Amino acid sequence: MPVLTVLYNHTRLEIQVDAGSTVLEGLRLSGLSHHADAPCGGNGLCGKCLVTVSGAVAAPDAREQALLAGKSERRLACLARIEGACTVSLAEDDGLTVVENSVFRFEADGKRRGLGAAVDIGTTTVALYLYDLRTGVRLATASGANGQRSYGADVISRIQYAMEHVDGLSVQTAAIRAQLRQLLREACEKARRTPEEVTAVAVAGNTVMEHLLTGLDPSGIAAAPFTPRSLFGESVSAEEYDLGTAPGTALYIAPCVSGYVGGDITAGLMAVKALEKEQPILFVDVGTNGEMAVGDHRGLTCCATAAGPAFEGGSISCGMAASPGAIDRVWVEDGALRVSVLGGGEAIGVCGSGLVDTLAALLELEIVDETGRLQPADEAPGAYADRLEGEGGNVRFRLSGDVWITAEDIRKLQLAKAAVAAGIETLLEHQKILPEQLGAFYLAGGFGSYLRPESAVRIGLFPAALLDRLQVVGNSAGAGASMLLLSDKAGEDLRRTKEQCTYLELSGMAQFNNAYMMCMMFE
Ligand code: FES
Repeated sequence: MPVLTVLYNHTRLEIQVDAGSTVLEGLRLSGLSHHADAPCGGNGLCGKCLVTVSGAVAAPDAREQALLAGKSERRLACLARIEGACTVSLAEDDGLTVVENSVFRFEADGKRRGLGAAVDIGTTTVALYLYDLRTGVRLATASGANGQRSYGADVISRIQYAMEHVDGLSVQTAAIRAQLRQLLREACEKARRTPEEVTAVAVAGNTVMEHLLTGLDPSGIAAAPFTPRSLFGESVSAEEYDLGTAPGTALYIAPCVSGYVGGDITAGLMAVKALEKEQPILFVDVGTNGEMAVGDHRGLTCCATAAGPAFEGGSISCGMAASPGAIDRVWVEDGALRVSVLGGGEAIGVCGSGLVDTLAALLELEIVDETGRLQPADEAPGAYADRLEGEGGNVRFRLSGDVWITAEDIRKLQLAKAAVAAGIETLLEHQKILPEQLGAFYLAGGFGSYLRPESAVRIGLFPAALLDRLQVVGNSAGAGASMLLLSDKAGEDLRRTKEQCTYLELSGMAQFNNAYMMCMMFE
């Protein structure tokens, strides 16, 4: 059996693999696959699982060559087949940052002792917050890319992987539990404490993430009527999760409302005190799913739309996470297009906030028209003709260096923004609430934290009337999980929040479908 050597962060791991297996299969066996992107779950469709490989690997076949599109110095992990001893180098650092939730106050009711860990399990990133349970002081945080990312960038591809592979569920459960163990160890080291001092864990994630964590089959969520196996909201023993915590540690999993509105949303709604509001509020969390809720002390109505990975750079030709080398800001200054790059230096891609800025700027410069068409060089304003290449559906615009935006990228962003905008519009209309009547608009999640609101309005992601009500709340799911750890009252509030949530199923709703078509247009 050939030996695959994996190089990552000054570590060197050697494992034996079957000849003919793909590099991605080898990485999954190595336990380091969470440092490798595989947005389409290893199905050879997205062309994004790029890795540097040397040694005995079969030459790229026609399919891989087409997807590589000239990026000859790297290979696609899910298509490159191992023939003999070879070495794969993984990107040193995910460069992902903990999305802050500093707008929240955490009060301990002093009834607990020891340490507690609050965990937000996002589809893309996982964040863990370590607390002193008696004082409520946050001692440390740790985060990373979700350990399941080599099984797909969004919940649908992860469910699909669980359904199509014998061990498809168990490997994802093992990956996320291993990651929680690792993050807990990391946070404890930072705080000079030990996992054995941890007596309580609270987890908030979307419904699919909570299924994968607990090892429950999520396949019922993949198709109508989108039925989950559980809506959680209970404490379980942390024993079987093998987190290294104190004996008798309870692990609480935040309650979900439906297959697509999970514990991350109920925890977020509790954290912003939605049920204490006199005036209705709108809460939106844009990630690979667009989850949203509207309401006040009388009750909340929630829904979810499939935004897809475009806003996180997934499925976008030069898309990437918000890490060093990503274009994160784009603006027009004196008629000229300007960009900023995370960490400075050469741009290697563009992240979510940069993509929304780009689309807003290209609309402003009339390089993209109201239908979302990227103008070819001979039709675009003269000043930008030299940055445009191609014809028809293959037109592309050079943003900076070798970072391009294609007509297809614009289309994917258009679909994602239409899904979120139509969701907001349908939810408000269904509840007969005008944007002007809202007391607050809470924008949660990583993407929401870095998004420039003016650009979001320019592309029509949300109506301008919401701008002066906007409150960016960061990782509200992590905040809700933290509050749960520290006080009984938060537990009560969360249970009541879940009970007061009504789910509105948008799929098949004529009102939503019409709004979606209308929201495809740019003003
Ligand atoms: S092409 Fe390899 S994961 Fe998509």
